[in-house]
Amino acid sequence: MTAYEIIRKKRDGGKLTQNEIRCFVEGLTDGSIPDYQVSAFAMAVYFCGMDDDETAALTDAMAHSGEMLDLSRFGDKSVDKHSTGGVGDKTSLIVLPLAASCGAIIPKMSGRGLGMTGGTVDKLESIPGYKTSLDPQEFLSLAEQHGMALIGQTGNLAPADKKLYALRDVTATVDSIPLIVSSIMSKKLATGSHSIVLDVKFGSGAFMKTLEDARLLAEKMVTIGKKCGRNMAALITDMDTPLGHAVGNSLEVNEAVSVLKNQGPDDLTSLCVQLASVMVSLSMSLDAGESTRLVSQALVSGKALAKFREWIASQGGDTAFIDRPEALGISAVRHKVCAVRDGYISHIKTDSIGMTSVLLGAGRKKKTDSIDPTAGITFLKSIGDKVAEGQPIAILHTSSDSVIRQAEDLLCSSVLISPQPPEKAPVIREIIR
Ligand code: URA
Repeated sequence: MTAYEIIRKKRDGGKLTQNEIRCFVEGLTDGSIPDYQVSAFAMAVYFCGMDDDETAALTDAMAHSGEMLDLSRFGDKSVDKHSTGGVGDKTSLIVLPLAASCGAIIPKMSGRGLGMTGGTVDKLESIPGYKTSLDPQEFLSLAEQHGMALIGQTGNLAPADKKLYALRDVTATVDSIPLIVSSIMSKKLATGSHSIVLDVKFGSGAFMKTLEDARLLAEKMVTIGKKCGRNMAALITDMDTPLGHAVGNSLEVNEAVSVLKNQGPDDLTSLCVQLASVMVSLSMSLDAGESTRLVSQALVSGKALAKFREWIASQGGDTAFIDRPEALGISAVRHKVCAVRDGYISHIKTDSIGMTSVLLGAGRKKKTDSIDPTAGITFLKSIGDKVAEGQPIAILHTSSDSVIRQAEDLLCSSVLISPQPPEKAPVIREIIR
């Protein structure tokens, strides 16, 4: 079948065979299918959808379009975690050492941040000396020695997805469930872990805005991962408020340490314990109760903090910040933002907080922008806290005085203060296995 015939079949609502999908993905990867036909294919899928067989075939074909990491040396113990992205999401920095200190093996590749959501690689690059780029052999041998290693994604991972995503981005075809599922899962399959735990976020600071959409995406990713031979679980979690108190790279690294010292915010700590315990349960075939007990013990005993120290040092990072947070640097400008009225903090518009952090220098508007590792926001108050007019609620960190006024206005309009305390919603809404 030609590319034309494949596009026409999908346009007319037909079910594509595994072979047709594989040929199309090969053609888009080697460039023999031009961009206009790939874009037309994406639009046909956008309107006509794909069933689970087709989505699994597309996922598998895109995963095999480039390098596939071989993790067979770890048997069934390798486990990966993926977050659909959010504001102040530093969970990987906490969850990986928590799970690795209990025996899970986590060779993880992460991405950089773009727009309102941050990336784990950017956060790690705020640690002096930490190497986010290692050759595959060194990466795997560190994972073998320490139970975990974390680097940036290599260039040749699922190249078909890179091409397809770039075209979806400019043809209004990003928000299609089979295309999102195959995009995310192809990269996860290529990085090779036997088990995958997904943190699917919903709310104003997330890619999926509603719980229903997040559930649909999570269920599909779990189904497709299983069809492709992986052990899967997904947590559906609230990103309608920022996670923890810190937004910004070095600020989030320091907050991660405070969680590992068991002194962190409750929302972040409980999410990390739950994510780590699902990872441990899949990696080590333990029941939920036993894995939660192990993970909680690792947190309280300091074992997870010791694993964090070991991991950062193993990848060349200077661990001084673990005992002295200021070792990661302090922003030149720090500015307190105060409550504009008396009341209770009832809502924080997470997307606007993400935009505020970009304005302060903590994120990128476009891929080529550089970031300021010490920039960001520290919240002094959380949802439900009582505040008085003029009381500080947050600190802005930046290197440039000139953005303070705009950032303060944006932050003030993002924090809603009501006369009545709000109802508190749990961070974790559902677990899908
Ligand atoms: N993230 C991805 O990697 N791919 C998508 O399609 C959407 C979000």
